[in-house]
Amino acid sequence: MLTVGLLGAGRIGAVHAAAIAAHPRSRLAAVSDAVAASAETLAARHGAAVRATEDIVADPAIDAVLIATPTDTHADLIEAATAAGKAVLCEKPVDLSLERARACLRAADATGRPVMMGFNRRFDASFRALRAALDAGEIGTPEMLAVTSFDPAPPPLDYVRHSGGLFRDMAIHDFDMARFLLGGMPESVWATGSALVDPAIAEAAGDVDTAVATLRYADGRLAVVRNSRRAAYGYDQRVEVLGSAGLLEVGNMRETTLRRSTEAGVTGAKPTYFFLERYMPAYRAEWDAFVGVALDGAPVPVGLEDGVAALAVAEAATRSLATGLPVRLADV
Ligand SMILES: NC(=O)c1ccc[n+]([C@@H]2O[C@H](COP(=O)([O-])OP(=O)(O)OC[C@H]3O[C@@H](n4cnc5c(N)ncnc54)[C@H](O)[C@@H]3O)[C@@H](O)[C@H]2O)c1
Repeated sequence: MLTVGLLGAGRIGAVHAAAIAAHPRSRLAAVSDAVAASAETLAARHGAAVRATEDIVADPAIDAVLIATPTDTHADLIEAATAAGKAVLCEKPVDLSLERARACLRAADATGRPVMMGFNRRFDASFRALRAALDAGEIGTPEMLAVTSFDPAPPPLDYVRHSGGLFRDMAIHDFDMARFLLGGMPESVWATGSALVDPAIAEAAGDVDTAVATLRYADGRLAVVRNSRRAAYGYDQRVEVLGSAGLLEVGNMRETTLRRSTEAGVTGAKPTYFFLERYMPAYRAEWDAFVGVALDGAPVPVGLEDGVAALAVAEAATRSLATGLPVRLADV
């Protein structure tokens, strides 16, 4: 049985708490949050204790921590928890600074403790099936990847202000998807973007809400990542890989599978609303994989180095957006 401490009882912390508590081989022992009431509500729901973050990290009776605090605390908490001998599952991104993330990777590696990153989409059944089909050579050699990732609505302006920008906060999942499906790192990234959803995202937060990043690999393969903070019809999560012998596609999950075919046309339900609806089974599968890592010594399926790699692509995209020029990964 894995005894777990959860750090951060916000939006995603609540999702993880449910997965930890429901798993037959893990127990949610303690929850911390900077806001006491948040920790209390979540801890009460799962019969866990409310404790300070530092106490959880220092307690030898806690085997593993799940870090679901704001991004600017992740690197410090990963370092402290691994130094205290814990296995760690940390939400994305590692940090907003690539330099800080790289230092964190070195420090965590030196402890020898496993760190897994919360790239939940790698545990989604459809994307796993896509990866298996690629591995089996079903479409020959992959040549071009297209990732579409549109949120239903933008987050609050204050969140955007502290998010590190769309590429580090949002597209990072898609850059990791490119790594999951194509492997390795692109050689260069060329990105552009606009604030079309809400001008305040540019004016008050200095960010974009609509963006395209083109990743070019050394062997000529291409990946296009398209992001928007608004899709009037729900959460749009699609992936397409074109290969020498065919095409593989993953489409959206829908609220229902009902399709109406009448003289007027063919219509169906909208995609599920957002990440909580779309990826709930993936968060549970992610936790199950982590339990295998922490209890059985299974290989880490998506590690801190993957978190740093996705952040490096995000950094290159952010610089490209600012300059209008392609940025080589070797230069970030
Ligand atoms: N993988 C995903 O699908 C996904 C989805 C949402 C958010 N995230 C990531 O998860 C992280 C949290 O996002 P969120 O949307 O849940 O934010 P949130 O603001 O809802 O929750 C964060 C919580 O952490 C608390 N907190 C702050 N400092 C703390 C500390 N030192 N110790 C304990 N608690 C502390 C805050 O009070 C807050 O309740 C972010 O890094 C975000 O990028 C990932």
